[in-house]
Amino acid sequence: MKTQQVHHPIPAPSALLAPGNIVQVEATGQGLKIRTSNSYIEISAYSPSVIRVRMDKRPLGRDFSYAVITGPETTGTKWQEFTDSLVFSTDSLDVVLQKHPFSIAFYTKDGRVINEDVAGMGTSWIGDQVTTYKQLQPEERFIGLGEKTGNLDRKGSGYVNWNNDSYGYAANEDPIYSSIPFYIGLHDHLCYGIFLDNTFKSDFNFGASNNRFSSFGADGGEMNYYFISGGHVADIITDYTTLTGRMPLPPLWSLGYQQNRYSYYPDTEVLRIAKTLREKKIPADGITLDIHYMEKYKLFTWDKKRFADPVKMNKELESMGFRTTVIVDPGIKVEKDYPAYEDGKAKDVFIKYPDGHPYTAQVWPGWCNFPDFTSERGRSWWEDKVKFLAGTGVDGIWNDMNEIASWGNKMPFNVLFDYDGAGATTIGAHNVYALEMARASYEGAKKSFKERPFILTRAGYAGLQRYTAIWTGDNRAEDDHMIAGIRLLNSLGLSGVAFTGMDIGGFTGNPSIALYARWIQIGAFTPYYRGHTAVNTKSAEPWTFGEEVTEIARNFIGLRYRLLPYIYSAFYNATQDGLPLMRSLAIDYSFDDKVYDTRYQNEYLFGPGILVLPFESKQAFGEAYFPNGIWYDLFTGEVQKGNEERILKLAYNKLPVYVKGGSIIPMQSLIQSTAQLPKDTLILNIYKGESDNRYTYYEDDGRSYGYQSGDYYKRDFIYDQANGRIILKKKEGNRSSNFKSIKLVMHGFGSQQHFSIEGHEVGFKKDFVALLTPISKFDPQGVANPLEGEGVLSHVIRNSDEQIIIELK
Ligand code: NOJ
Repeated sequence: MKTQQVHHPIPAPSALLAPGNIVQVEATGQGLKIRTSNSYIEISAYSPSVIRVRMDKRPLGRDFSYAVITGPETTGTKWQEFTDSLVFSTDSLDVVLQKHPFSIAFYTKDGRVINEDVAGMGTSWIGDQVTTYKQLQPEERFIGLGEKTGNLDRKGSGYVNWNNDSYGYAANEDPIYSSIPFYIGLHDHLCYGIFLDNTFKSDFNFGASNNRFSSFGADGGEMNYYFISGGHVADIITDYTTLTGRMPLPPLWSLGYQQNRYSYYPDTEVLRIAKTLREKKIPADGITLDIHYMEKYKLFTWDKKRFADPVKMNKELESMGFRTTVIVDPGIKVEKDYPAYEDGKAKDVFIKYPDGHPYTAQVWPGWCNFPDFTSERGRSWWEDKVKFLAGTGVDGIWNDMNEIASWGNKMPFNVLFDYDGAGATTIGAHNVYALEMARASYEGAKKSFKERPFILTRAGYAGLQRYTAIWTGDNRAEDDHMIAGIRLLNSLGLSGVAFTGMDIGGFTGNPSIALYARWIQIGAFTPYYRGHTAVNTKSAEPWTFGEEVTEIARNFIGLRYRLLPYIYSAFYNATQDGLPLMRSLAIDYSFDDKVYDTRYQNEYLFGPGILVLPFESKQAFGEAYFPNGIWYDLFTGEVQKGNEERILKLAYNKLPVYVKGGSIIPMQSLIQSTAQLPKDTLILNIYKGESDNRYTYYEDDGRSYGYQSGDYYKRDFIYDQANGRIILKKKEGNRSSNFKSIKLVMHGFGSQQHFSIEGHEVGFKKDFVALLTPISKFDPQGVANPLEGEGVLSHVIRNSDEQIIIELK
């Protein structure tokens, strides 16, 4: 006979403190204030699907967050008391609070457990460290947690959040630069998000070294988390970005190709790079200047010998269709009579030790002091300094080294920060320093730049998407790094950050020709597309790997430019719903096990409809999985059934990219920079699908804030499969489209006999679409010659602002 094992609770050592039993409950507006024997708790509904839990062993302190920007919305809640529990309910959730001892569980309205504390060890403190333990549910998976290496499904792994300067990090290293303590759990067709809003060093365990729990905790501060429930992963990301904010619309030029290196100088070299891109017909929009533009790396200076007239140089670049981004680091050189230092000292903006000495550490310029970005005074000082950059005609600010990085990589714990009035030491403020630096750069640029700025950061904290794009720092020129980078970007996307990128080609080391060729192709399908390399590496511009790779780069960068109407619309949509540009398949196919298979976990959708299959450059064949639906090879139009695994023959010159049936993909003619207008026909690629689809298309001037007062052009495109129609809805906004006509390009409709537009039968003619330039010169075997694409049907219509219905009869 099987006997049930009895577990006797072990008396806790005095160092470990648990909340104990509920002793008092008080209803507040939209929640409960609870007193347990050893803790103070607040449960409140932020919306029907978002519940906040605050717990501390001390009375709850000031309610302040660097991440959360929205308060609770008014929503109906109720609670009931039973002998052993309290049930707190919203329209979407029941929260069950056990009284003896306190624990918390979240249920669906039909009584299914979404997430629950481990009975008897929900939350506890060891000293100031606080951790919450959640029962592992059968087959539970975990995704997200921001810029974290490792598998898409994080089950079995543990992570730490402590922003770290990780030069040449290993592809599985943790932590690296950024901290976003937000993840999504999935089991039994249920999903939820947990955002631990705590800026101390935090620790997440998804069943690593144990088979009982997932846990999250921090070295200090409150247990302060938001529980988000939703039917779909996408809803959770949308709710999370309602709390922590969304990306502002970036300037269009920042979506074009950006050419970096550490560093281009002097000015003649910068111009040579720009001219070469134009001569070689490699489209590009940005040139980025690394630390050598400054005089001895001193912030808010230009090296006068290398850059005698930055205004003139930036004007010249602009006349060639380039925008300039410059790097800034937080360290201000301690040097008598250096204006930024003297001014910072006079205005008392630098962080200090408890004895009042400024904290001094070594970075590029030598010994530096660091502004306190967690103080209003520090931020407004920096905002003012940013005017200097605006004055030299710069369009973008790249915030680097803001973990804070310094030689020795060991910032003392006893440095004091303002923490917006509350005061904090390094251990509480470290993880938000970069976020607040990016904020100050963004706010400063918004005030002094003529147009929307581009802001980039290396480190950050939850909510960074409100101010900045992020890139994944000093990666290596290695195949596994390229692939790991894709997962980093996909994970950032799952964590509310839509505008992300990695150093294409790798920062440290020199990529092989094949690796660079593959990376530049993949980069075309990442949100921030920049080539970069370290100071001591070989040149890594697109033309430095031989003629064939130059052609491959030209092809894929060109394809990126032709896809800009689709990409810009995806950026716009991300500003509205928080969904990323790079969508791990876990967003749209959350409960398809194959998506998490380590062979397929790198696949992602770029925007809503383009499937990218990244493989290492050494591979001759790649294992691919096509999720539910119909898929079309972007280059050949070949139809691929969904729910199918397949071995793909790979080619050096062609990244496997597919389009989801039912997608509507707007494209334009090839341009060399976004400063150039495309031809006035929008190419609307419509892919035959098996289900309905709705897509929002968006245009504006790409540079000003006019869109905020109605100067935009937006329309919904509907693939109405059920009724055999495509509907281009009436336009919204005060702007006219850049495109006078629309060329409807129908993919997969080969057997279609008749189409009618607005009730009139029209003839669609057989067309030919070549998405890439022929590269047969280099392709003697004709391997994957991306020249096919014959057999699509097309028809050109006038771009009327009114609704247009295309019937498929
Ligand atoms: C570190 C950054 O990660 C890298 O991209 C940059 O080139 C160097 N700092 C020099 O500024």
